[in-house]
Amino acid sequence: MQLRTLGSSDLQVSPICFGCWQLSPAWWGVVPVEPWAKAVKTALDHGVNFIDIADAYGDGLAETELGKLFQREGVRDRFVLATKFYWNFTAPGGRHPDTTRDYILRACEASLRRLQTDRIDLYQIHGWDPLTRPDEVAAAFAQLQREGKVRWFGVSNLNPEQMELYRGHFNLASLQPPYSLLAREIEARELPYCLRHNIGVLNYSSLHRGLLGGRYTAETKFTDHRAKAPMFQGAGLQAVLAAVEEAKVIAAELGLTMAELAVRWVLAHPAVTSAIVGVKTPDHITGVVKAADAPLSQETWHRLAARFAQAKSEALAATK
Ligand SMILES: NC(=O)c1ccc[n+]([C@@H]2O[C@H](COP(=O)([O-])OP(=O)(O)OC[C@H]3O[C@@H](n4cnc5c(N)ncnc54)[C@H](OP(=O)(O)O)[C@@H]3O)[C@@H](O)[C@H]2O)c1
Repeated sequence: MQLRTLGSSDLQVSPICFGCWQLSPAWWGVVPVEPWAKAVKTALDHGVNFIDIADAYGDGLAETELGKLFQREGVRDRFVLATKFYWNFTAPGGRHPDTTRDYILRACEASLRRLQTDRIDLYQIHGWDPLTRPDEVAAAFAQLQREGKVRWFGVSNLNPEQMELYRGHFNLASLQPPYSLLAREIEARELPYCLRHNIGVLNYSSLHRGLLGGRYTAETKFTDHRAKAPMFQGAGLQAVLAAVEEAKVIAAELGLTMAELAVRWVLAHPAVTSAIVGVKTPDHITGVVKAADAPLSQETWHRLAARFAQAKSEALAATK
C-alpha cells in the first residue's frame, strides 16, 4: 500500500486508517476483543500503518485494549498512532468538553499510560471548545512537543473559522471530519480550506456507519446506536439500499467489494489523505484494503455521487 504524507507533517500514512471507535460499548454494544485484536494484526499484514482511536472511546477501554495489544505483540512502532482528547469523561458532574491547559496535560499522560507508549504521533482535539482560548491550547501543545510526548497535532469536527483560529497559534497537521457518499457537506468549505493550507484529512464514517458496506438488507435490524437513525430503518433504509444495489454492479465491474468502492470514492477527493474505516473483525479490514490503490474514473465518481444524493433525499423525505 503506497503511503502518503499527512498534510504538513512528516507522518507517512496508509490511505486506509484503522478506526477503533467500535470498542465503545455504549455506542456499538460489546464487541469481542479477540477478533478485533486479530483485525489489527491483519491490517498490518495488508500494509495499513495508520490507526485512529480516542480516550473517550469506551471511556478509556479502547486505548487500554490497544495498549495491551501493543505490549503483547510488540507492534507499537509499526503504527502511526492517532488519538484524541476533549471529552473530560471523568469529571464528577458528567462528561464535558475540556481543552484547558491542565486538562490536556493530564489527558495526554492518561492516554500514554493506557496505550503503553511513550509518544503519540498525532494528537487530535475531538471537537470545538468555545470556552478555552487557542493560546492556552497552544501552550499545552508546545509543552507536550518539548517533552517528546506528541509529534503532531490535529483537530476533528471543526469548520474553517475554528481551524483558522488555531492555525494562528500552532501547526495544524490534520482535520478529521465525517465524509462519505451519504455525507458530503464538507466538500463546500472544509475540504477546500484543507487543500489550500496543506492540512491532511483523515475522514471518518467512510462507510456511513456500515450502510455503504453492502452487507445489509431491508430486514437488517440494528441493535446499537444506529437503531434510531433515519437511514437505518424502514423506507429510509430501503431508499439507500436501492442505490447500494446499483453501486454493487459498478463495484463488481471494477473487481471491488461495495465497501471498497465506497472508500475508493472518498479517497478520490484530492484533499483526503486517508479514509478511516471502523473495524470489528479481520474480514472488515480484508474487505476494504483494495480501495487504497484501485482506479476510479471521474465519470463513475460523479455518477455515484448523483445516485447517492438522490437516495439520501428520498431517505430523508421518507422518514419526515
Ligand atoms: N472524530 C469523530 O468525531 C469520529 C466520529 C465517528 C468515527 N470516528 C472514527 O472513524 C472510524 C470509522 O467511523 P464509523 O465507525 O463511524 O463508520 P464506518 O467506518 O463508516 O462504519 C463502520 C462499520 O462499517 C461496517 N464495515 C466495516 N468494514 C466493512 C467491510 N469491509 N464491509 C462491509 N461493512 C464493513 C461495520 O458494520 P457492522 O458493525 O454492522 O458490522 C462497521 O462497524 C471510527 O472507528 C473512529 O475511529 C471519529
